[in-house]
Amino acid sequence: MKILAIESSCDETAAAVVEDGRRVLSNVISSQVEEHKIYGGVVPEIASRRHTENIARVVKKALEDANCGYDDIEAIGVTYAPGLIGALLVGVNFAKGLSFAAGKPLVPVHHLRSHIAANYISYNDLEPPFLALVVSGGHSHIVNVKSYTEFEVLGKTRDDAAGECLDKAARAMGIPYPGGANLDRMAKGGNASAYMFPHPHVENAPLDFSFSGLKTSVINIIHNASQKGENINIQDLGASYIKAVVKCLTDNLMKAAEITGAKTIVTAGGVSANSVLREQLESICSIRNLKLYMPALKYCGDNGAMVGSQAFYEFKAGHFAKENLNAIASLGIDKNSF
Ligand code: KG4
Ligand code: ZN
Repeated sequence: MKILAIESSCDETAAAVVEDGRRVLSNVISSQVEEHKIYGGVVPEIASRRHTENIARVVKKALEDANCGYDDIEAIGVTYAPGLIGALLVGVNFAKGLSFAAGKPLVPVHHLRSHIAANYISYNDLEPPFLALVVSGGHSHIVNVKSYTEFEVLGKTRDDAAGECLDKAARAMGIPYPGGANLDRMAKGGNASAYMFPHPHVENAPLDFSFSGLKTSVINIIHNASQKGENINIQDLGASYIKAVVKCLTDNLMKAAEITGAKTIVTAGGVSANSVLREQLESICSIRNLKLYMPALKYCGDNGAMVGSQAFYEFKAGHFAKENLNAIASLGIDKNSF
């Protein structure tokens, strides 16, 4: 069964054709990164306008690359939540029009569920249940993935998301957008013990995260040095900071594995491309005899293929959009709203 999938929740306009949730027949991404770079971050209104300009071309190319016409497609999947509302609306409306015109059912897909599904297209053998660390620009969750469409949030951030915390620190260090990925590259080979950072704990919620203190610490280090006229070794500072962020993520993830007795760990979202997180998890999981799955690097960031994969499982669960489907800026991974 082939699904045409559309993703426009942030600054990538993306479409893909995926067969049976696992086989990627095409995956087209039109990135706006160069334009948002000028502003040091995603400008929501610009993102929406570019989606509007690009979406028809991207969807057409995804169908062409997969050698498919509408007759070959059984359903249309679309990201409807969470994300930038104006950006989501472009994808949702386009998908609704297409579904109406082509007479194909519309499947609403939660963005974070699709990030988890990036693993299904990377690993054919992976099936729920498992424990997932979902780390993107806007979210940091530890999720008990009970089935393809049932999720329980065990831990979440109380303030900034891991990606946001890396992006803001990168900006303070003068590293250009997209901060997280550039900081990862720049910090390679730096001394990760050169700077000390606090290890925040959330009282009475051992699986929750708090990153705002780490972010404030790094900004204070930079300001203090600049007031004293001292130089900062950005490579060392970046390496120390990434180490601190990664330790928060891996410590809580391992606590969750102990509590739940999970034997399979999965990562998802843009931050799961981070080289230190990947190395650390590989080593920790091998010591603890946990099976680890991390998405192929090309599926860590936003893309249509992961949406096509999750849409297949939502379809099988009978999750279809009604005519009044709307985009939603904020919606828990465990919730359905269609
Ligand atoms: O999942 P994603 O592409 O979009 C959202 O749904 O938010 O995640 C974007 C986040 C950004 O904060 C970006 O800085 C971060 O993922 N990111 C990274 C790396 N590549 C992307 N963070 C750390 N290291 C990376 N290599
Ligand atoms: Zn994302």
